[in-house]
Amino acid sequence: MSSYRLLAPLLLLGFLQVALVKRFEVKDGSKICLLAELSANFSVNYETTAKKEATVLFSLPEDAQVSNRSNCNNMTAPLLVISFEGGHSLSMNFSRVNTSYKMDVLTISCNWSDHTHFPNASSKGFLIKSSRSMDISAKINTTYKCTSDSTMHMNNVNLTLSHVRMEAFPPNNNFSKNETQCPADVTPTGPTTTLVTTLTPTTAAPPTPQNPMTGNYNVTDSNGICLLAKMGLQLNITYTTPDNKTALKVFNIQPNSTGADGNCTSDHASLQLTDGLTKLNFVFVVNATTSKFYLKELSVSIDLPAARGKPFMAKNESLNYLQTTLGKSYVCRSEQTLQVNPNFSINAFEIQVQPFRVNDSKYATAEECQMDKDNMLIPIIVGAALAGLVLIVLIAYLIGRKRSHAGYQTI
Ligand SMILES: *[C@@H]1O[C@H](CO)[C@@H](O)[C@H](O)[C@H]1NC(C)=O
Ligand SMILES: *[C@@H]1O[C@H](CO)[C@@H](O)[C@H](O)[C@H]1NC(C)=O
Ligand SMILES: *[C@@H]1O[C@H](CO)[C@@H](O)[C@H](O)[C@H]1NC(C)=O
Ligand SMILES: *[C@@H]1O[C@H](CO)[C@@H](O)[C@H](O)[C@H]1NC(C)=O
Ligand SMILES: *[C@@H]1O[C@H](CO)[C@@H](O)[C@H](O)[C@H]1NC(C)=O
Ligand SMILES: *[C@@H]1O[C@H](CO)[C@@H](O)[C@H](O)[C@H]1NC(C)=O
Ligand SMILES: *[C@@H]1O[C@H](CO)[C@@H](O)[C@H](O)[C@H]1NC(C)=O
Ligand SMILES: *[C@@H]1O[C@H](CO)[C@@H](O)[C@H](O)[C@H]1NC(C)=O
Ligand SMILES: *[C@@H]1O[C@H](CO)[C@@H](O)[C@H](O)[C@H]1NC(C)=O
Ligand SMILES: *[C@@H]1O[C@H](CO)[C@@H](O)[C@H](O)[C@H]1NC(C)=O
Ligand SMILES: *[C@@H]1O[C@H](CO)[C@@H](O)[C@H](O)[C@H]1NC(C)=O
Ligand SMILES: *[C@@H]1O[C@H](CO)[C@@H](O)[C@H](O)[C@H]1NC(C)=O
Repeated sequence: MSSYRLLAPLLLLGFLQVALVKRFEVKDGSKICLLAELSANFSVNYETTAKKEATVLFSLPEDAQVSNRSNCNNMTAPLLVISFEGGHSLSMNFSRVNTSYKMDVLTISCNWSDHTHFPNASSKGFLIKSSRSMDISAKINTTYKCTSDSTMHMNNVNLTLSHVRMEAFPPNNNFSKNETQCPADVTPTGPTTTLVTTLTPTTAAPPTPQNPMTGNYNVTDSNGICLLAKMGLQLNITYTTPDNKTALKVFNIQPNSTGADGNCTSDHASLQLTDGLTKLNFVFVVNATTSKFYLKELSVSIDLPAARGKPFMAKNESLNYLQTTLGKSYVCRSEQTLQVNPNFSINAFEIQVQPFRVNDSKYATAEECQMDKDNMLIPIIVGAALAGLVLIVLIAYLIGRKRSHAGYQTI
């Protein structure tokens, strides 16, 4: 432990020497519409006058600055243009969607006539490449943070961003204290280190992130809390990339950055969770015949630029999960999978929900799920088996003792 503490400043020092993290601001008058801090590495392939292929690597240099082409666009769609020596630039368009903001397009523009960066380039003019394959989005009033590397692959250009902090429309002209972390930071070994995850079904599945943190999500109406929910959620989506490959993405819902909303009636309750541009909707209903409630509907919408630019959507309105007697709460400590359709499932951990008849903001008597009961049964069976074994050994011992005793007497 203590050796780590000693090492940390040294590592930090080492890092400062290699990667330069620059801060950029886009303003409209005195109001900042975009704040960004990042380091960037470029890898560019090009053809030389000798008809040879060359690859150059360079980092965003110290002289990089906010170009006067940057614009707040009337505080609606910030555009950050970072220009640097040689006539090159890196620009990013942002937009606002309800209570979130996101980066829409990232564009790289390289000047072929800069022979310092591109010795003997055969092309003239500019190389311009854009990418929409980014997962940079966060809720308004939170800072998007991604320390991990994320690489955008464009034709002949790879851009690696790291140590990113960004915020569009920062309320106090500075980064907000509340942060939205990128999945790669939350799960360092997770599948999203590279933003464009292109996996054919035949390649190995990405490693599963750690178990999700358990969040408390309540819905309140005029009478107070009407729906209580506590759960850890891991989403598993299968989608198609722009080059028609099937890719898998497994990521956790971060309770910190997730808002809960919804509404309740005596036989229909909904819970909407919003984490950045990920939206989940759970609908619970009552079956009056059986006096039980259950999860009938689950829908999801995830903004996934890597999936052909369209948001990923899935919905199932005829589920029958989490069935529980009305007036009780559903509890399941075991992990369970809520399959919504072939392309979408939720791995749920440590669930407790009560969508109806909530009194005093407290969960009513718990009704344990079958899996917990089964899991409970295993220790009981093992215990019983052990007890039986002990008994058999004991009896055998006693019988044996009696026999040998008897044996002594006859001799
Ligand atoms: C960027 O390039 C520098 C210098 O080549 C290297 O030290 C650093 O690790 C690179 N960073 C990333 C995020 O690739
Ligand atoms: C970009 O990355 C891909 C995959 O790692 C690699 O195949 C390609 O050669 C890289 N291109 C450049 C210009 O570095
Ligand atoms: C931006 O700056 C360049 C010179 O650096 C200048 O020629 C140009 O007029 C400026 N544009 C605006 C919109 O201010
Ligand atoms: C800027 O936004 C304000 C308020 O949202 C609006 O009244 C105004 O017309 C907009 N100006 C331009 C140039 O779009
Ligand atoms: C963001 O914060 C500002 C000031 O703190 C507040 O006025 C605004 O309503 C907040 N917006 C959201 C979407 O939370
Ligand atoms: C940060 O988030 C928490 C919980 O979502 C919220 O209560 C708090 O007001 C937020 N702080 C700021 C400064 O927005
Ligand atoms: C995600 O879903 C796919 C396809 O249904 C499945 O093969 C995989 O095991 C799931 N992964 C996790 C971690 O649930
Ligand atoms: C992907 O498939 C769709 C239809 O299935 C087709 O229209 C499109 O051209 C394909 N794209 C690529 C890059 O192969
Ligand atoms: C969540 O909140 C805790 C405590 O407020 C903080 O330590 C942690 O870094 C936050 N995590 C995320 C992912 O924002
Ligand atoms: C209640 O939830 C349903 C389904 O989620 C939604 O369609 C409806 O607009 C909500 N009603 C109110 C008053 O928020
Ligand atoms: C309620 O449950 C009964 C018994 O399982 C079933 O026959 C009936 O279709 C259910 N009703 C609704 C509305 O789901
Ligand atoms: C939801 O209600 C439970 C039980 O009253 C409480 O412990 C929890 O803090 C509440 N969570 C939120 C986010 O309001």
